[in-house]
Amino acid sequence: MTNLSGKTILVTGADGFIGSHLVEHLVRQGLKVRAFSLYNSFGTWGWLDRVSPDVKGSFEVFSGDIRDPNGVATAMRGCDVVLHLAALIAIPYSYHSPDTYIDTNIKGTLNVLQAARLLETERVVHTSTSEVYGTAQFVPITEEHPLVGQSPYSASKIGADQLALSFYRSFGTPVTVIRPFNTFGPRQSTRGPADDHHPACGRPEGSSPRQAQPNPGLHLRCRHRQGVPGHGRKPRGSGRSGQLWQRL
Ligand SMILES: NC(=O)c1ccc[n+]([C@@H]2O[C@H](COP(=O)([O-])OP(=O)(O)OC[C@H]3O[C@@H](n4cnc5c(N)ncnc54)[C@H](O)[C@@H]3O)[C@@H](O)[C@H]2O)c1
Repeated sequence: MTNLSGKTILVTGADGFIGSHLVEHLVRQGLKVRAFSLYNSFGTWGWLDRVSPDVKGSFEVFSGDIRDPNGVATAMRGCDVVLHLAALIAIPYSYHSPDTYIDTNIKGTLNVLQAARLLETERVVHTSTSEVYGTAQFVPITEEHPLVGQSPYSASKIGADQLALSFYRSFGTPVTVIRPFNTFGPRQSTRGPADDHHPACGRPEGSSPRQAQPNPGLHLRCRHRQGVPGHGRKPRGSGRSGQLWQRL
């Protein structure tokens, strides 16, 4: 992973659960952060409105829409690294509104990749999900596990991942794909993965509790990361829980 010291970092999905924690973490590391927040007419910035006081006012906010290529390129100008988290993530919503998942998760990621290529961004970290593997056919899941589009959400993330990897293969765009499993902690949504069920088997997507955790950090139940091909990284999925920021 690129050394982030002295870098300007764009965080997309910064107004969300994981993104807002990430912004707090990066600002506390002394990094210059631009937080991409989904524009709305209320002038609110999602969870960024409630970040802790030591961080408030110490980062820039860019209000835009990941579906807009010009807006995304404008937000990325002057940034060395992009941590791309913006996405629609609720599985049930993807059953009846899959078009929006294609536009946001696939087209939005394409916009980030195109801009990264044009602007010669140093590193793009694309946030995928363990959902790309569907119901586990074996555990621990490795990167050899088949990709299974079990929901339109999962299919859209598979599409986004493959686009990201194709930009590396075709153009050498420096992309890293991370695949967190269920993440839990303060600010997690009550409509998050723990509440989502596959229609086919009815199993919960996760078992994370909804309440704020006693340990005020974000946790992954497990994790998986796909290294950039040719960068000598071995695929690995540890099966362990841990602090998300130790993994980036
Ligand atoms: N929460 C989990 O357990 C989990 C697990 C694995 C992967 N992920 C991935 O992590 C990332 C962040 O997830 P989260 O749990 O914080 O979700 P979240 O819904 O809290 O955050 C996603 C953010 O993306 C933003 N967004 C949606 N559409 C947008 C658009 N058109 N333009 C700009 N921004 C837009 C939303 O405003 C939201 O704040 C996602 O990519 C998700 O797929 C999450």
